[in-house]
Amino acid sequence: MSMEPIQSDALVFFGASGDLAFKQIFPALLGLVGDEGVDVPIVGVAKAGWKVDDLRARAKASVESHGPVDAAKLARLLGLMRYVDGDYNDPATFAALKQALGAAKRPLHYLAIPPSLFGVVVGALAASGLNENARLVVEKPFGHDRESAQALNRTLHEHFPEPAIYRIDHYLGKEPVQSIVYTRFANAPFESLWNRNYVRSIQITMAEAFGVDDRGSFYDATGALRDVVQNHMLQVLANVMMDPPTGEDHESMRDQKAALLKAVKPLDGASIVRGQYRGYRQVKGVKPDSTVETYVAVKLSVESWRWAGVPIYIRAGKCLPLTAAEVTVEYKPPPRATFGDEADAPPSYMRLRISPDVGVAIGLRVKHPGEGMTGESVELMLAERAGSLIPPYQRLLGDAMRGNDELFGREDSIDAQWRIVQPILANPPPALEYAPGTWGPEAAEALIGADGPWRDPKPPKAG
Ligand code: BG6
Repeated sequence: MSMEPIQSDALVFFGASGDLAFKQIFPALLGLVGDEGVDVPIVGVAKAGWKVDDLRARAKASVESHGPVDAAKLARLLGLMRYVDGDYNDPATFAALKQALGAAKRPLHYLAIPPSLFGVVVGALAASGLNENARLVVEKPFGHDRESAQALNRTLHEHFPEPAIYRIDHYLGKEPVQSIVYTRFANAPFESLWNRNYVRSIQITMAEAFGVDDRGSFYDATGALRDVVQNHMLQVLANVMMDPPTGEDHESMRDQKAALLKAVKPLDGASIVRGQYRGYRQVKGVKPDSTVETYVAVKLSVESWRWAGVPIYIRAGKCLPLTAAEVTVEYKPPPRATFGDEADAPPSYMRLRISPDVGVAIGLRVKHPGEGMTGESVELMLAERAGSLIPPYQRLLGDAMRGNDELFGREDSIDAQWRIVQPILANPPPALEYAPGTWGPEAAEALIGADGPWRDPKPPKAG
């Protein structure tokens, strides 16, 4: 938990009646108020015809749906809540918001609304003077492609300076993703092995066993590449591959991430496999002839001295055999065989588990007991823990209220992420059908070829 004091003196969240608020924001607010001492007005805004008691009822239902709730903490949260009902196009909504904010001088505005409304709300905030000394948290997706993301930045910058803008990618608020950074930079030996001289390949898999469910219309306008690769997976990649931060500047971590992302070569048609699970087209909200991908596998490369020539594979998909995400860094074989059994031996590796739990493991060859110099592959588990103590949204909203932007996407990083996927968005190869419960289209095997096999994440532990 960050030690800086809370600086924002009010939290406004647009989209208070929405799905994201129910699933993520209310539980995050309960944690902030109940465990982190946040004690400022919390204003929900929506066009739902609600009164404040409806907002409180929704908040209560939300947090109770996540598990047992401490009544005193919930009462504190509900007591801080205020509500503004109205259309985002109507100046009266923002006049009412100003009133609800009372004496607050440094509000944080969180846009948990469809991106098509970002411009409208930001313009209206500015017209009412509510952008002064304020911070703005912007939900994903940040743009639909490179051009729209750049246009969105221009719109936001008309009314908010870059340091006041916090672009959320909830993957960055995950404990296991932070654990990657810690493991790398708190242990000197890894640094010497973390380059093209020793690393054979890097793989990242984000597998989800469930389908698109009730998000058909959102997903069908998005697809896996935009939904999780352009943002979450590329941010994980940056955490795994960036250079160590230098100096004391608090931007140095974000500088290194941006530098890494800018060095990734844009995708081309030969470096991607798109897939669609059988049955996707029958999901409510999905077009019956949709060509949107629910699975994607890509091969990337980083044009830097450290990483030149090291292939990077990322795959992500819905309706795969299990729900888990892992990074595997595979090491090159020894330069010559000493014992004769190396030829068929799998490579040494480091496995970084990022979902649903945290894990750091090393795969090595060890000798069989006995006279012969032959061995077997074993995995040494260095650390294994349950997932997040602090849910990602709580972590990130708390950071934004404290003015700590380290875990938020900077303009140049997000632009670099779009730059990587842009050629495919403009010209996608066909989406190949795969059976639900499998590891995606067979073409993904050809994509990884001799750099494979794909490393399937381990199933989550029961319970
Ligand atoms: C979201 C995507 O950003 O991340 C979803 O829109 C995806 O499609 C989700 O399921 C995964 O996040 P988590 O935290 O559940 O692993």
